[in-house]
Amino acid sequence: MDNNAYLKIGQQAMMKNVGRLPVVISRGEGSRVWDADDKEYIDFLMGISVNNFGYCNPEITVALTKQAEKIIHVSNYFYLEEQVRLAEQLVKLSGFDAVFFSNSGAEANEAALKLARKHGKVKLGGKYQIVTAKGSFHGRTFGALSATGQPKYQESFQPIVPGFSYADYNDLGSWQAAINDQTCAVLLELVLGEGGVIPATHDFVKGLF
Ligand SMILES: Cc1ncc(COP(=O)(O)O)c(C=O)c1O
Repeated sequence: MDNNAYLKIGQQAMMKNVGRLPVVISRGEGSRVWDADDKEYIDFLMGISVNNFGYCNPEITVALTKQAEKIIHVSNYFYLEEQVRLAEQLVKLSGFDAVFFSNSGAEANEAALKLARKHGKVKLGGKYQIVTAKGSFHGRTFGALSATGQPKYQESFQPIVPGFSYADYNDLGSWQAAINDQTCAVLLELVLGEGGVIPATHDFVKGLF
């Protein structure tokens, strides 16, 4: 089947939850991908920075294949050898106490939101409010969507999860105004992505602490 034939089926059979480009990817190598017509592209997106080691990186391919031959998944009722070894390394390198493994950015942010809320409940006398940036993007799950400071993504799903307020990026005064006696956390992209690829200034981040 060629690119257009796949496209026709995909456009009908797949939900239109995001706007996709009319390209059906067939394979990748390094920084390049090929569509179903064998047309070559340089992919600057790399899975929105997920595939930063390149497509079909030989070392990753070998590791994945070896692991698939051993075992792929057990429930979270067990530990996995590789998981334990990776957790130990991450703890050592990061200086944090423990890690939480998740499958996506949205899931990581959901965990962060829940940790913040729990900390607020248990340690801060019930504080629950979380401040995030206007123009931010934190994911498509309900909590992460509610944290996302872009009303256009939230409109269709109102009412969203309560307890979020939004402040202007790199404007400490705006955050000071949004933070109140019920605030338990702030959630921040250190480079505001969808809001314009704007790096956070040093003074702004320092000020938030
Ligand atoms: C800054 C930021 N946070 C969170 C997410 C959500 O990550 P995922 O798509 O892996 O759920 C994204 C995705 O683009 C993102 O750009």
